[in-house]
Amino acid sequence: MRIRKQRGGGGGLAVLVVLHAVTRQPALENYRSNGKRRKNRNCKGVIPAEWELFGHLTALKLYPLKSGKGINLEEAEPTFLGLKSGLLRDRFFIVYDERGCFVSGRKYPKMVLITVSAADNGSFKFEAPGHESLIIESPERLSKQHYKDHKFNIRLWSNRVTGLDAGDEAAKWISQLLLSKEDGLRIGCYVPDIAVERKVTPLDKVYKNLTSDDTGAYSDLSAFLLISEDSVAELNERLEDPDKVTYENFRPNLLIKSKDGKKPFMEDDWEWCRIGDKNGPVFRSVKPCTRCIFTTVDPKTGVKNEHMEPLNTLKLYRKLKDPEALRLEGDSPVMGVNLGLYKDGNLKVGDPIYVGIVNKSS
Ligand SMILES: *[C@@H]1O[C@H](CO)[C@@H](O)[C@H](O)[C@H]1NC(C)=O
Ligand SMILES: *[C@@H]1O[C@H](CO)[C@@H](O)[C@H](O)[C@H]1NC(C)=O
Repeated sequence: MRIRKQRGGGGGLAVLVVLHAVTRQPALENYRSNGKRRKNRNCKGVIPAEWELFGHLTALKLYPLKSGKGINLEEAEPTFLGLKSGLLRDRFFIVYDERGCFVSGRKYPKMVLITVSAADNGSFKFEAPGHESLIIESPERLSKQHYKDHKFNIRLWSNRVTGLDAGDEAAKWISQLLLSKEDGLRIGCYVPDIAVERKVTPLDKVYKNLTSDDTGAYSDLSAFLLISEDSVAELNERLEDPDKVTYENFRPNLLIKSKDGKKPFMEDDWEWCRIGDKNGPVFRSVKPCTRCIFTTVDPKTGVKNEHMEPLNTLKLYRKLKDPEALRLEGDSPVMGVNLGLYKDGNLKVGDPIYVGIVNKSS
């Protein structure tokens, strides 16, 4: 994603004209868009009319790099592709290997220490402790040819996903950081307009409300993950001191708390929630979030817990109950819920959260 340098001298004008012709639709616009395929969701008539206050939103978290460090925000815009704040978007960067498969903090726990920030000129800065920083230049003004030459298609769990490769310098940086060698890994960026639709089979056989419109950018399953402080507090009561966790072990986008702080795991049973006033964004719960070894990585140090906590404790009481779901997903325990966006709006820390009242007889 490097800007094409405009050469000076006699040929300059010609180069400029050609560049202009091929960049009628600048890549940055693509980067900012929410994609074409998301606009036709039928939301009318399915969103509940009645709501009950549950508590409020206590943190908003955006992870520019999948498996990288999260950024705490005071405000953010929810989109069909996840949270957005300025040029930063949730899980729009991904690391993949040379065999064409994504890699994550499960294998490279140090990834949780990588931070990404956006500069005013549209470039992105990647930083990691003890390493020089990396600048990935703005994708603005890239040519269609550049897209063709640098598009990748990789495996993300059972899906194929596409994007724009960030170039050899970025590949060298991430390979040195995680493999201590010059190559082997690469960095990719999500571009909505060249993205392919992600499949949700066979999970949608069990989770009837999960659709490909919920899948987000490079999220594991859906564009939003919600977790409750009440649930984390309940879990911590079961853990020994050195193994206690924070909500950050679970990498949610939305952290909530009930009015009295003592309503753990209520989110499991919700279908709808709205954050903010009448005009606030509306989300639908599409699947419980089944958890893996990644929850054992300390988000501050990038080191796995030596007692495999909190995963071992969660397995004692938080397994899936539905036999069909168990057959599909195995015995991974549940913590948090995956949400899809049904109505736009804005999010602010401190906003009230309401749960939709669904007519049981319909
Ligand atoms: C954009 O800003 C960053 C950070 O200030 C800088 O390192 C980079 O060189 C700038 N890029 C361009 C093309 O000016
Ligand atoms: C899906 O949504 C319907 C209402 O449209 C609801 O009755 C049902 O419980 C939901 N299914 C699941 C698996 O959440």
